[in-house]
Amino acid sequence: MTFKPAEWPRKLRSQTWFGGTSKDNIYHRGWMKNQGFPPDLFDGRPVIGILNTWSELTPCNAHLRDLAERVKHGIYEAGGFPVEVPVFSASESAFRPTAMMFRNLAAMAVEEAMRGQPMDGCVLMVGCDKTTPSLLMAAASTDIPSIVVTGGPMLNGYYKNERVGSGTHLWKFSEAVKAGTMTKEEFVDAEASMSRSPGSCNTMGTASTMASMAEALGMALSGNAAIPAVDSRRRVMAQITGRRIVQMVKDDLKPSDILKKEAFENAIRTNAAIGGSTNAVIHLLAIAGRVGIDLTLEDWDRCGRDVPTIVNLMPSGKYLMEEFFYAGGLPVVIKRLGEAGLLHKDALTVSGETAWEQVKDVVNHNDDVILPADKALAQSGGVVVVKGNLAPKGAVLKPSAATAALLTHRGRAVVFEDIDDYKAKINDEDLDIDETCIMVLKNCGPKGYPGMAEVGNMGLPPKILRKGITDMVRISDARMSGTAYGTVVLHTSPEAAAGGPLAVVQNGDFIELDVPNRRLHLDISDEELAARLAKWVPIHPLYQSGYGWLHQRHVEGADTGADLDFLKGARGNAVGKDSH
Ligand code: FES
Repeated sequence: MTFKPAEWPRKLRSQTWFGGTSKDNIYHRGWMKNQGFPPDLFDGRPVIGILNTWSELTPCNAHLRDLAERVKHGIYEAGGFPVEVPVFSASESAFRPTAMMFRNLAAMAVEEAMRGQPMDGCVLMVGCDKTTPSLLMAAASTDIPSIVVTGGPMLNGYYKNERVGSGTHLWKFSEAVKAGTMTKEEFVDAEASMSRSPGSCNTMGTASTMASMAEALGMALSGNAAIPAVDSRRRVMAQITGRRIVQMVKDDLKPSDILKKEAFENAIRTNAAIGGSTNAVIHLLAIAGRVGIDLTLEDWDRCGRDVPTIVNLMPSGKYLMEEFFYAGGLPVVIKRLGEAGLLHKDALTVSGETAWEQVKDVVNHNDDVILPADKALAQSGGVVVVKGNLAPKGAVLKPSAATAALLTHRGRAVVFEDIDDYKAKINDEDLDIDETCIMVLKNCGPKGYPGMAEVGNMGLPPKILRKGITDMVRISDARMSGTAYGTVVLHTSPEAAAGGPLAVVQNGDFIELDVPNRRLHLDISDEELAARLAKWVPIHPLYQSGYGWLHQRHVEGADTGADLDFLKGARGNAVGKDSH
């Protein structure tokens, strides 16, 4: 740890708005006083933006207004001036065509909100899947001192006395309805049991994963990720986060001091240990791109290989986030990585302590939730990166959520040209498919299904489900919900809509998936592949205007994080021109 705190007191950036007696200063300060703020709040103390992704259409974050009050308490207690600012909230459950299409728009909007307004530090109030990475990307680009506090997961769901996991049981129940083992009425009845309290998804889905990634990167206080939304300790966490950001501003502890390559490697290993979402791959690559860290898919494969999945949570395992919290939560996992020699112990965190200092004394209270290594759900739990003529730039697979017997498989391709083609054919009893086939879905990547929808875990045909078969190899350029499971090859790059080889797979081709050797091969000759690619034409028109136009023309591939090309890199916090 080489960080040296800055001298205090010193003039902060907010004083260029609020300090002094010029016409502009009086304009900026005077208008703020219409809210009844006392004059001494403008005296040079840290102004902290509470960037709040609260929205009633982002139900997972709908309690964040309440939590923000606790953050404000903490900021006032530490001598700061809190200002709550609503920011773009990319709701996973409501946004169409997909929330991921708006992650980069949110990141761009939040970046400008941070830079263009008087904030010396920021509390990033997030929770739902895309809200966490979008605000982290913005903070990385502005490099304004920032700290994450998440809203926390929902309480456990139960239906007929069985645990019900957010998302995970949505897939399970919908397949059960298709297989005829659950009625539609029971499915509707189960709906309320899935979401019985405020908070984000209670499985180790993308929201819980990204909360864990924020903590493992060192951008949230230790223990933040797992505290349930309605637990009083979530409010305590919000309050001490508010206190902490004030000191971070005084010390000038910035994202660039924390987001080093070592921090990303700690996060990748943590993702393997928790059985985290494949979406973390894309988000961490994008965040790294904002601070100029050279993070690649190879880093994901390399760092995850030796890490067992020890967190027994759905979708890979049995329990939910509430039980993870009672067991000790993420600090226990990070301690285990440290004990196994799999942690950069000196990595700096927002607390000012190293990754190791803050976890070295924690205790595991339930070794059925946080498992011993010899009982791990997968011994090599990291996200696997496969390459080959079908995915020259790589594709990913989550082994802890897959069927071991399918990790080496050769099968006949059954091709769906896009999601509409899939929906039109999948329930057709005459579809030429059996359980040995490989389902291939095209045109669902960052450009193709703008934003890269979570449709990669496409449901199986009813006639196969009725046989009691619940998994088949599936390949696409789409993403998969972090709550989902299956032997699913995702993020195939280059994507079909960009002319990648996936675009020219045909019904009846044979495909080989060889996870131990990290290989994904379309079994046709190089000449045949080249001839098909030479004839390829995109099947979907691009957006002609609006944000969709910007997105489709500038989004990069999943293999580098699917950021917009012109948003990569850190741009700092200097305002180019005073607008008045
Ligand atoms: Fe918002 Fe899962 S849909 S956290």
